[in-house]
Amino acid sequence: MIESPIGVFDSGIGGLSVLQSLQAALPAEHFVYWADSGHAPYGEKTDLFVRQRSLAITDHLIRQHHIKALVVACNTATAVAIHELRAQHPQLILIGVEPALKPALQISQTGHIGVMGTRGTLSSEKFQRLLGHLHGQAQFTLQACDGLALAIEQSTSLTEGGQATESIAQLLQQYTRLMGEFGSCSGQMDTLVLGCTHYVFAQDALSALLGPQVKLVSTGEPVARQTRRLLESARLLRTGPAPHALSARLCLMSNGDVAGLQAAAQRWLQLPHSACHRADMQV
Ligand code: DGL
Repeated sequence: MIESPIGVFDSGIGGLSVLQSLQAALPAEHFVYWADSGHAPYGEKTDLFVRQRSLAITDHLIRQHHIKALVVACNTATAVAIHELRAQHPQLILIGVEPALKPALQISQTGHIGVMGTRGTLSSEKFQRLLGHLHGQAQFTLQACDGLALAIEQSTSLTEGGQATESIAQLLQQYTRLMGEFGSCSGQMDTLVLGCTHYVFAQDALSALLGPQVKLVSTGEPVARQTRRLLESARLLRTGPAPHALSARLCLMSNGDVAGLQAAAQRWLQLPHSACHRADMQV
């Protein structure tokens, strides 16, 4: 089992931001990444749809790839499906992601925190519960960003790339304006939680828009540390030298635009195109 890969999935390329941290924290491990791009975006779909996709992908990764752990690198899928995944696979080490509200509380000086996420995540019971636990500790301004994950997904496509980059800039401007004032003065939001793994790939544009005094908070690193801890305590952590061949270390699959996944993996993880494959379309 120690030699088995760790499964990672997202609705598309967003989870690559988590994979990046996982690789850094777990250099000796093998990873299988599933981009469900043929069904992206998840954020504006029904809970039932996202739950069914999450269950189907998990079953597939267990059956075909014999994964020893699964990282749900998607806030939306974690919010609506992780309890069901845990119930169906009690033996599997499962790690989800959620908007980093608690880390943001440690960072914010003004006590006013912005949270960008998908409609699905922000309206989920799981997220509302998390928010409820932190009631009174800070002011949280939430913004559902319809269309943003899709624009980021499309920004790596050869045909739609240029147009998508423009719409990312427009959507960021529109949504941050709706949220209110950012800055380090009293009452302003000085911390912004990126509650969707796709948004990490727009952080340079966001920083340019909001200025350096606004801290952006994402979840890749804490999730990677938690994955390491759980593998260690289950004695499933692979140590020793990193697997030599890239094909042994990493297998990325997409059931949508494989060229888009290749472009994203190259741009953000410096991976060659040969690491990316067409996913089994039956899943
Ligand atoms: N990257 C995902 C998340 O963290 C899903 C975005 C989407 O497909 O809408 O929520």
